[in-house]
Amino acid sequence: MNFEFSEEQLMIQQAARDYAQRELIKDVIERDTHAIYPTEHVKALSELGFMGMLVDPEYDGGGMDTVSYVLAMEEISKVDSSVSVVMSVNNSLVCYGIEKFGTEAQKEKFLKPLARGEKIGAFLLSEPEAGSDATSQRTTAEDKGDYYLLNGTKNWITNGNTAGTYLVIAQTHPEKGHKGINVLIVDRHSPGISVGPHEDKMGMRSSDTHSVMFNDVKVPKENRIGEDGFGFKFAMKTLEGGRIGIAAQALGIASGAFERAVKYSKERKAFGTEIANHQSVAFKLADMAVKIENARNLCLKAAWLKDQGKPYGYASAMAKYYAAEIAMEVTTEAVQIHGGYGYVKEYHVERLMREAKLTQIYEGTSEIQQIVISRQVLSEF
Ligand code: CAA
Repeated sequence: MNFEFSEEQLMIQQAARDYAQRELIKDVIERDTHAIYPTEHVKALSELGFMGMLVDPEYDGGGMDTVSYVLAMEEISKVDSSVSVVMSVNNSLVCYGIEKFGTEAQKEKFLKPLARGEKIGAFLLSEPEAGSDATSQRTTAEDKGDYYLLNGTKNWITNGNTAGTYLVIAQTHPEKGHKGINVLIVDRHSPGISVGPHEDKMGMRSSDTHSVMFNDVKVPKENRIGEDGFGFKFAMKTLEGGRIGIAAQALGIASGAFERAVKYSKERKAFGTEIANHQSVAFKLADMAVKIENARNLCLKAAWLKDQGKPYGYASAMAKYYAAEIAMEVTTEAVQIHGGYGYVKEYHVERLMREAKLTQIYEGTSEIQQIVISRQVLSEF
Protein backbone atom coordinates (compact mmCIF):
# COMPACT_ATOMS: atom_id res chain seq x y z
CA MET A 1 0.00 0.00 0.00
CA ASN A 2 1.37 3.38 -0.99
CA PHE A 3 -0.34 6.65 -0.09
CA GLU A 4 2.13 8.84 -1.96
CA PHE A 5 1.40 10.59 -5.23
CA SER A 6 3.80 10.41 -8.15
CA GLU A 7 5.64 13.52 -9.31
CA GLU A 8 3.40 13.71 -12.35
CA GLN A 9 0.24 13.53 -10.24
CA LEU A 10 1.53 16.30 -8.00
CA MET A 11 2.37 18.47 -11.01
CA ILE A 12 -1.15 18.06 -12.38
CA GLN A 13 -2.61 18.93 -8.98
CA GLN A 14 -0.42 22.03 -8.79
CA ALA A 15 -1.34 23.16 -12.31
CA ALA A 16 -5.05 22.86 -11.50
CA ARG A 17 -4.58 24.64 -8.16
CA ASP A 18 -2.62 27.49 -9.78
CA TYR A 19 -5.22 28.02 -12.47
CA ALA A 20 -8.12 27.91 -10.01
CA GLN A 21 -6.55 30.19 -7.38
CA ARG A 22 -5.10 32.65 -9.90
CA GLU A 23 -7.71 32.82 -12.68
CA LEU A 24 -11.02 31.17 -11.79
CA ILE A 25 -11.35 33.02 -8.50
CA LYS A 26 -11.24 36.48 -10.12
CA ASP A 27 -14.73 36.62 -11.54
CA VAL A 28 -16.45 33.60 -9.99
CA ILE A 29 -18.95 35.66 -7.98
CA GLU A 30 -19.95 37.69 -11.02
CA ARG A 31 -20.32 34.59 -13.17
CA ASP A 32 -22.48 32.98 -10.49
CA THR A 33 -24.63 36.05 -9.91
CA HIS A 34 -25.37 36.62 -13.60
CA ALA A 35 -25.21 32.95 -14.70
CA ILE A 36 -22.46 33.69 -17.22
CA TYR A 37 -21.04 30.63 -18.98
CA PRO A 38 -17.25 30.40 -18.37
CA THR A 39 -16.25 30.36 -22.06
CA GLU A 40 -12.71 31.67 -21.59
CA HIS A 41 -11.97 29.33 -18.69
CA VAL A 42 -13.18 26.27 -20.59
CA LYS A 43 -10.91 27.33 -23.46
CA ALA A 44 -7.93 27.86 -21.16
CA LEU A 45 -8.46 24.51 -19.43
CA SER A 46 -8.67 22.84 -22.85
CA GLU A 47 -5.32 24.38 -23.71
CA LEU A 48 -3.91 23.02 -20.43
CA GLY A 49 -5.15 19.58 -21.51
CA PHE A 50 -7.80 19.21 -18.79
CA MET A 51 -10.84 18.71 -21.02
CA GLY A 52 -9.54 15.42 -22.40
CA MET A 53 -7.13 14.51 -19.65
CA LEU A 54 -8.19 10.86 -19.37
CA VAL A 55 -8.11 10.15 -23.11
CA ASP A 56 -5.24 8.21 -24.64
CA PRO A 57 -2.72 10.46 -26.48
CA GLU A 58 -3.44 8.35 -29.58
CA TYR A 59 -6.79 10.17 -29.67
CA ASP A 60 -5.31 13.58 -28.78
CA GLY A 61 -5.96 13.29 -25.04
CA GLY A 62 -3.67 13.92 -22.08
CA GLY A 63 -3.22 10.24 -21.18
CA MET A 64 -3.43 11.03 -17.47
CA ASP A 65 -4.70 8.57 -14.88
CA THR A 66 -7.92 8.76 -12.88
CA VAL A 67 -6.05 9.60 -9.67
CA SER A 68 -4.70 12.75 -11.38
CA TYR A 69 -8.22 13.50 -12.57
CA VAL A 70 -9.52 13.37 -8.97
CA LEU A 71 -6.72 15.72 -7.85
CA ALA A 72 -7.47 18.19 -10.65
CA MET A 73 -11.25 18.03 -10.13
CA GLU A 74 -10.81 18.75 -6.42
CA GLU A 75 -8.68 21.84 -7.07
CA ILE A 76 -10.97 23.32 -9.73
CA SER A 77 -14.07 22.58 -7.62
CA LYS A 78 -12.62 24.39 -4.60
CA VAL A 79 -13.25 27.54 -6.61
CA ASP A 80 -15.90 26.96 -9.29
CA SER A 81 -17.94 23.81 -9.87
CA SER A 82 -19.69 25.38 -12.86
CA VAL A 83 -16.34 24.93 -14.58
CA SER A 84 -15.45 21.54 -13.10
CA VAL A 85 -18.78 20.04 -14.18
CA VAL A 86 -17.92 20.84 -17.81
CA MET A 87 -14.62 19.05 -17.28
CA SER A 88 -16.30 16.11 -15.60
CA VAL A 89 -19.06 15.53 -18.17
CA ASN A 90 -16.65 15.93 -21.08
CA ASN A 91 -13.97 13.65 -19.65
CA SER A 92 -15.67 10.90 -17.76
CA LEU A 93 -19.02 10.59 -19.50
CA VAL A 94 -18.63 11.63 -23.13
CA CYS A 95 -14.93 11.00 -23.94
CA TYR A 96 -14.81 7.86 -21.82
CA GLY A 97 -17.98 6.45 -23.36
CA ILE A 98 -16.71 6.90 -26.93
CA GLU A 99 -13.15 5.78 -26.15
CA LYS A 100 -14.21 2.65 -24.28
CA PHE A 101 -17.10 1.49 -26.43
CA GLY A 102 -16.88 3.36 -29.77
CA THR A 103 -15.49 2.21 -33.13
CA GLU A 104 -12.19 3.48 -34.54
CA ALA A 105 -14.13 5.66 -37.00
CA GLN A 106 -16.20 7.17 -34.15
CA LYS A 107 -13.05 7.87 -32.15
CA GLU A 108 -11.38 9.51 -35.13
CA LYS A 109 -14.36 11.67 -35.97
CA PHE A 110 -15.88 12.50 -32.58
CA LEU A 111 -13.43 11.70 -29.79
CA LYS A 112 -10.42 13.63 -31.06
CA PRO A 113 -12.07 17.09 -31.16
CA LEU A 114 -13.61 16.41 -27.72
CA ALA A 115 -10.26 15.34 -26.28
CA ARG A 116 -8.61 18.50 -27.64
CA GLY A 117 -11.44 20.55 -26.10
CA GLU A 118 -12.34 22.01 -29.49
CA LYS A 119 -15.79 20.59 -28.96
CA ILE A 120 -17.54 19.92 -25.69
CA GLY A 121 -19.81 16.95 -25.11
CA ALA A 122 -23.12 16.42 -23.34
CA PHE A 123 -24.69 13.22 -21.97
CA LEU A 124 -28.43 13.07 -22.62
CA LEU A 125 -30.02 10.45 -20.37
CA SER A 126 -32.47 12.30 -18.09
CA GLU A 127 -35.99 13.05 -19.28
CA PRO A 128 -38.99 14.87 -17.79
CA GLU A 129 -40.30 11.49 -16.59
CA ALA A 130 -37.08 9.47 -16.45
CA GLY A 131 -34.64 10.86 -13.90
CA SER A 132 -33.65 8.30 -11.27
CA ASP A 133 -35.79 5.71 -13.07
CA ALA A 134 -33.50 5.75 -16.06
CA THR A 135 -34.92 2.65 -17.81
CA SER A 136 -38.20 4.51 -18.53
CA GLN A 137 -36.87 6.24 -21.64
CA ARG A 138 -39.59 7.96 -23.70
CA THR A 139 -37.27 9.44 -26.32
CA THR A 140 -37.43 7.17 -29.34
CA ALA A 141 -34.78 6.22 -31.88
CA GLU A 142 -36.81 4.54 -34.60
CA ASP A 143 -34.80 2.21 -36.81
CA LYS A 144 -35.24 3.40 -40.42
CA GLY A 145 -32.68 1.14 -42.10
CA ASP A 146 -29.56 3.20 -42.57
CA TYR A 147 -30.50 5.85 -40.02
CA TYR A 148 -32.39 6.37 -36.73
CA LEU A 149 -35.21 8.90 -36.39
CA LEU A 150 -34.92 10.61 -33.04
CA ASN A 151 -37.94 12.14 -31.25
CA GLY A 152 -38.41 13.28 -27.66
CA THR A 153 -37.22 15.60 -24.92
CA LYS A 154 -34.21 15.43 -22.61
CA ASN A 155 -34.00 17.40 -19.35
CA TRP A 156 -31.33 18.97 -17.14
CA ILE A 157 -28.64 18.59 -19.74
CA THR A 158 -25.27 19.95 -18.64
CA ASN A 159 -23.55 21.66 -21.63
CA GLY A 160 -26.96 21.43 -23.37
CA ASN A 161 -26.43 24.53 -25.51
CA THR A 162 -22.65 24.80 -25.73
CA ALA A 163 -21.95 21.15 -26.56
CA GLY A 164 -21.03 20.27 -30.13
CA THR A 165 -21.52 16.54 -29.60
CA TYR A 166 -24.38 14.83 -27.80
CA LEU A 167 -24.54 11.26 -26.55
CA VAL A 168 -28.26 10.53 -26.66
CA ILE A 169 -29.87 7.55 -24.92
CA ALA A 170 -33.16 6.55 -26.58
CA GLN A 171 -35.60 3.68 -26.88
CA THR A 172 -35.63 1.68 -30.14
CA HIS A 173 -37.55 -1.46 -29.14
CA PRO A 174 -40.04 -0.56 -26.36
CA GLU A 175 -41.22 -4.18 -26.14
CA LYS A 176 -37.70 -5.15 -24.96
CA GLY A 177 -37.62 -2.63 -22.07
CA HIS A 178 -34.11 -1.57 -21.09
CA LYS A 179 -32.66 -4.10 -23.55
CA GLY A 180 -34.18 -2.09 -26.41
CA ILE A 181 -32.36 1.15 -25.57
CA ASN A 182 -29.60 2.57 -27.79
CA VAL A 183 -26.98 5.29 -27.47
CA LEU A 184 -26.32 7.55 -30.45
CA ILE A 185 -23.66 10.15 -31.13
CA VAL A 186 -25.52 13.20 -32.40
CA ASP A 187 -24.21 16.43 -33.90
CA ARG A 188 -25.84 19.18 -31.84
CA HIS A 189 -26.45 21.23 -34.99
CA SER A 190 -28.45 18.52 -36.78
CA PRO A 191 -31.77 19.72 -38.25
CA GLY A 192 -34.69 19.13 -35.86
CA ILE A 193 -32.83 19.87 -32.61
CA SER A 194 -34.02 22.74 -30.44
CA VAL A 195 -32.68 23.82 -27.07
CA GLY A 196 -34.83 25.23 -24.25
CA PRO A 197 -33.96 28.27 -22.13
CA HIS A 198 -31.03 28.26 -19.68
CA GLU A 199 -32.20 26.80 -16.35
CA ASP A 200 -32.10 29.41 -13.57
CA LYS A 201 -30.50 27.21 -10.93
CA MET A 202 -29.83 27.58 -7.19
CA GLY A 203 -26.14 26.70 -7.57
CA MET A 204 -23.61 26.06 -10.35
CA ARG A 205 -25.52 28.88 -11.96
CA SER A 206 -23.07 29.50 -14.77
CA SER A 207 -22.98 25.92 -16.00
CA ASP A 208 -25.02 25.50 -19.15
CA THR A 209 -28.14 23.50 -18.24
CA HIS A 210 -31.00 23.12 -20.72
CA SER A 211 -33.75 20.89 -22.02
CA VAL A 212 -33.08 19.55 -25.50
CA MET A 213 -35.88 18.64 -27.92
CA PHE A 214 -35.58 16.24 -30.87
CA ASN A 215 -38.08 16.48 -33.67
CA ASP A 216 -37.52 13.92 -36.47
CA VAL A 217 -33.74 14.17 -36.18
CA LYS A 218 -31.96 11.81 -38.57
CA VAL A 219 -28.92 10.09 -37.06
CA PRO A 220 -26.76 7.86 -39.28
CA LYS A 221 -26.65 4.22 -38.17
CA GLU A 222 -22.87 4.35 -37.89
CA ASN A 223 -23.31 6.78 -34.97
CA ARG A 224 -24.75 4.08 -32.72
CA ILE A 225 -22.30 2.97 -30.03
CA GLY A 226 -22.12 -0.78 -29.49
CA GLU A 227 -24.60 -3.48 -30.45
CA ASP A 228 -28.31 -2.82 -30.93
CA GLY A 229 -29.79 -2.51 -27.41
CA PHE A 230 -26.51 -1.67 -25.63
CA GLY A 231 -27.63 1.87 -24.64
CA PHE A 232 -28.78 1.26 -21.07
CA LYS A 233 -25.73 -0.78 -20.11
CA PHE A 234 -23.60 1.88 -21.79
CA ALA A 235 -25.23 4.55 -19.58
CA MET A 236 -24.74 2.53 -16.40
CA LYS A 237 -21.12 1.62 -17.14
CA THR A 238 -20.26 5.18 -18.14
CA LEU A 239 -21.92 6.65 -15.06
CA GLU A 240 -19.71 4.46 -12.86
CA GLY A 241 -16.76 6.62 -13.95
CA GLY A 242 -18.80 9.84 -14.10
CA ARG A 243 -19.57 9.38 -10.42
CA ILE A 244 -15.85 9.48 -9.58
CA GLY A 245 -15.73 12.91 -11.22
CA ILE A 246 -18.72 14.21 -9.27
CA ALA A 247 -17.42 12.67 -6.04
CA ALA A 248 -14.15 14.57 -6.58
CA GLN A 249 -16.17 17.69 -7.30
CA ALA A 250 -18.07 17.32 -4.02
CA LEU A 251 -14.75 16.74 -2.26
CA GLY A 252 -13.39 19.97 -3.75
CA ILE A 253 -16.46 21.94 -2.69
CA ALA A 254 -16.03 20.62 0.86
CA SER A 255 -12.28 21.23 1.03
CA GLY A 256 -12.66 24.69 -0.54
CA ALA A 257 -15.18 25.68 2.15
CA PHE A 258 -13.04 24.07 4.86
CA GLU A 259 -9.91 26.00 3.86
CA ARG A 260 -11.88 29.24 3.99
CA ALA A 261 -13.35 28.33 7.39
CA VAL A 262 -9.88 27.57 8.84
CA LYS A 263 -8.47 30.84 7.53
CA TYR A 264 -11.42 32.88 8.80
CA SER A 265 -11.38 31.26 12.24
CA LYS A 266 -7.70 32.19 12.68
CA GLU A 267 -8.37 35.84 11.78
CA ARG A 268 -11.74 36.62 13.30
CA LYS A 269 -11.73 37.57 16.96
CA ALA A 270 -14.54 37.18 19.49
CA PHE A 271 -14.49 37.25 23.28
CA GLY A 272 -10.90 38.46 23.22
CA THR A 273 -9.34 35.78 21.04
CA GLU A 274 -9.39 34.28 17.53
CA ILE A 275 -12.50 32.15 17.20
CA ALA A 276 -10.31 29.09 16.33
CA ASN A 277 -9.33 29.14 20.02
CA HIS A 278 -12.91 28.43 21.02
CA GLN A 279 -13.52 24.73 21.30
CA SER A 280 -16.96 25.07 19.67
CA VAL A 281 -15.19 26.19 16.47
CA ALA A 282 -12.07 24.01 16.75
CA PHE A 283 -14.16 20.85 17.16
CA LYS A 284 -16.24 21.75 14.13
CA LEU A 285 -12.99 22.07 12.16
CA ALA A 286 -11.84 18.68 13.46
CA ASP A 287 -15.06 17.00 12.33
CA MET A 288 -14.86 18.69 8.93
CA ALA A 289 -11.24 17.54 8.49
CA VAL A 290 -12.10 13.90 9.26
CA LYS A 291 -15.03 13.90 6.84
CA ILE A 292 -12.94 15.43 4.05
CA GLU A 293 -10.15 12.94 4.59
CA ASN A 294 -12.61 10.05 4.40
CA ALA A 295 -14.17 11.43 1.24
CA ARG A 296 -10.75 11.92 -0.35
CA ASN A 297 -9.75 8.35 0.45
CA LEU A 298 -12.97 7.00 -1.09
CA CYS A 299 -12.45 9.08 -4.24
CA LEU A 300 -8.84 7.97 -4.60
CA LYS A 301 -9.71 4.33 -3.96
CA ALA A 302 -12.36 4.37 -6.71
CA ALA A 303 -9.93 6.14 -9.06
CA TRP A 304 -7.14 3.70 -8.25
CA LEU A 305 -9.40 0.70 -8.89
CA LYS A 306 -10.36 2.15 -12.26
CA ASP A 307 -6.71 2.77 -13.13
CA GLN A 308 -5.87 -0.84 -12.17
CA GLY A 309 -8.59 -2.17 -14.47
CA LYS A 310 -10.50 -3.60 -11.48
CA PRO A 311 -14.29 -3.25 -10.91
CA TYR A 312 -15.02 0.20 -9.49
CA GLY A 313 -18.81 0.72 -9.65
CA TYR A 314 -19.37 -0.04 -5.97
CA ALA A 315 -16.44 2.17 -4.91
CA SER A 316 -17.53 5.04 -7.14
CA ALA A 317 -21.10 4.90 -5.77
CA MET A 318 -19.68 4.99 -2.22
CA ALA A 319 -17.37 7.88 -3.06
CA LYS A 320 -20.14 9.87 -4.74
CA TYR A 321 -22.65 9.20 -1.94
CA TYR A 322 -20.29 10.03 0.90
CA ALA A 323 -18.55 13.00 -0.69
CA ALA A 324 -21.85 14.63 -1.66
CA GLU A 325 -23.34 14.14 1.81
CA ILE A 326 -20.30 15.54 3.62
CA ALA A 327 -20.00 18.41 1.12
CA MET A 328 -23.44 19.54 2.28
CA GLU A 329 -22.49 19.13 5.96
CA VAL A 330 -19.07 20.77 5.67
CA THR A 331 -20.27 23.76 3.65
CA THR A 332 -23.15 24.31 6.09
CA GLU A 333 -20.67 24.35 8.99
CA ALA A 334 -18.35 26.67 7.04
CA VAL A 335 -21.23 29.15 6.71
CA GLN A 336 -21.93 28.77 10.43
CA ILE A 337 -18.30 29.47 11.37
CA HIS A 338 -18.37 32.61 9.22
CA GLY A 339 -21.58 33.79 10.95
CA GLY A 340 -23.24 36.70 9.15
CA TYR A 341 -20.30 36.98 6.75
CA GLY A 342 -20.95 33.41 5.64
CA TYR A 343 -24.38 34.43 4.43
CA VAL A 344 -23.11 37.03 1.95
CA LYS A 345 -21.48 36.37 -1.41
CA GLU A 346 -18.11 37.98 -0.77
CA TYR A 347 -16.93 35.12 1.46
CA HIS A 348 -17.77 32.37 -1.09
CA VAL A 349 -19.00 29.79 1.40
CA GLU A 350 -22.72 30.39 0.73
CA ARG A 351 -22.06 29.69 -2.97
CA LEU A 352 -20.13 26.53 -2.13
CA MET A 353 -23.08 25.42 0.01
CA ARG A 354 -25.46 25.96 -2.94
CA GLU A 355 -23.10 24.03 -5.19
CA ALA A 356 -22.85 21.14 -2.71
CA LYS A 357 -26.60 20.56 -2.95
CA LEU A 358 -26.40 19.64 -6.62
CA THR A 359 -23.81 16.94 -6.00
CA GLN A 360 -26.46 15.07 -3.97
CA ILE A 361 -28.76 15.18 -6.99
CA TYR A 362 -27.03 14.75 -10.35
CA GLU A 363 -25.32 11.70 -11.86
CA GLY A 364 -27.53 9.64 -9.56
CA THR A 365 -29.03 11.08 -6.36
CA SER A 366 -27.70 10.02 -2.97
CA GLU A 367 -30.63 7.60 -2.78
CA ILE A 368 -29.63 6.01 -6.13
CA GLN A 369 -26.10 5.52 -4.77
CA GLN A 370 -27.66 3.85 -1.71
CA ILE A 371 -29.52 1.49 -4.07
CA VAL A 372 -26.30 0.60 -5.90
CA ILE A 373 -24.36 0.12 -2.65
CA SER A 374 -27.07 -1.84 -0.84
CA ARG A 375 -27.61 -4.20 -3.79
CA GLN A 376 -23.91 -5.03 -3.78
CA VAL A 377 -23.83 -5.45 0.00
CA LEU A 378 -26.85 -7.77 -0.07
CA SER A 379 -25.52 -9.87 -2.92
CA GLU A 380 -22.08 -10.21 -1.32
CA PHE A 381 -22.80 -11.02 2.31
N1 CAA B 1 -22.95 -1.87 -15.26
C1 CAA B 1 -23.46 -2.68 -16.22
N2 CAA B 1 -24.76 -3.01 -16.28
C2 CAA B 1 -25.58 -2.52 -15.34
C3 CAA B 1 -25.12 -1.68 -14.30
C4 CAA B 1 -23.75 -1.35 -14.29
N3 CAA B 1 -23.23 -0.55 -13.36
N4 CAA B 1 -26.16 -1.33 -13.52
C5 CAA B 1 -27.24 -1.95 -14.04
N5 CAA B 1 -26.88 -2.67 -15.13
C6 CAA B 1 -27.71 -3.50 -15.97
C7 CAA B 1 -28.34 -4.64 -15.16
O1 CAA B 1 -27.49 -5.75 -15.10
C8 CAA B 1 -29.60 -4.92 -15.96
O2 CAA B 1 -29.29 -5.68 -17.11
P1 CAA B 1 -29.83 -7.21 -17.27
O3 CAA B 1 -31.31 -7.14 -17.20
O4 CAA B 1 -29.29 -7.62 -18.59
O5 CAA B 1 -29.22 -7.97 -16.13
C9 CAA B 1 -29.98 -3.55 -16.48
O6 CAA B 1 -28.82 -2.73 -16.45
C10 CAA B 1 -31.08 -2.92 -15.65
O7 CAA B 1 -30.57 -2.81 -14.34
P2 CAA B 1 -31.51 -2.78 -13.06
O8 CAA B 1 -32.51 -3.89 -13.12
O9 CAA B 1 -30.62 -2.69 -11.88
O10 CAA B 1 -32.30 -1.40 -13.32
P3 CAA B 1 -33.12 -0.49 -12.36
O11 CAA B 1 -34.31 0.02 -13.08
O12 CAA B 1 -33.34 -1.15 -11.03
O13 CAA B 1 -32.16 0.81 -12.20
C11 CAA B 1 -30.46 2.16 -11.25
C12 CAA B 1 -30.88 0.78 -11.73
C13 CAA B 1 -29.11 1.96 -10.61
C14 CAA B 1 -31.41 2.74 -10.24
C15 CAA B 1 -30.34 3.10 -12.50
O14 CAA B 1 -31.60 3.34 -13.07
C16 CAA B 1 -29.66 4.42 -12.20
O15 CAA B 1 -28.45 4.48 -12.06
N6 CAA B 1 -30.45 5.54 -12.13
C17 CAA B 1 -29.89 6.86 -11.98
C18 CAA B 1 -29.64 7.51 -13.30
C19 CAA B 1 -28.61 8.59 -13.23
O16 CAA B 1 -27.57 8.46 -12.60
N7 CAA B 1 -28.87 9.68 -13.93
C20 CAA B 1 -27.92 10.72 -14.01
C21 CAA B 1 -28.14 11.49 -15.26
S1 CAA B 1 -26.65 11.94 -16.07
C22 CAA B 1 -26.17 13.42 -15.39
O17 CAA B 1 -26.64 13.86 -14.37
C23 CAA B 1 -25.08 14.05 -16.14
C24 CAA B 1 -24.97 15.50 -15.98
O18 CAA B 1 -25.46 16.24 -16.80
C25 CAA B 1 -24.14 16.05 -14.88
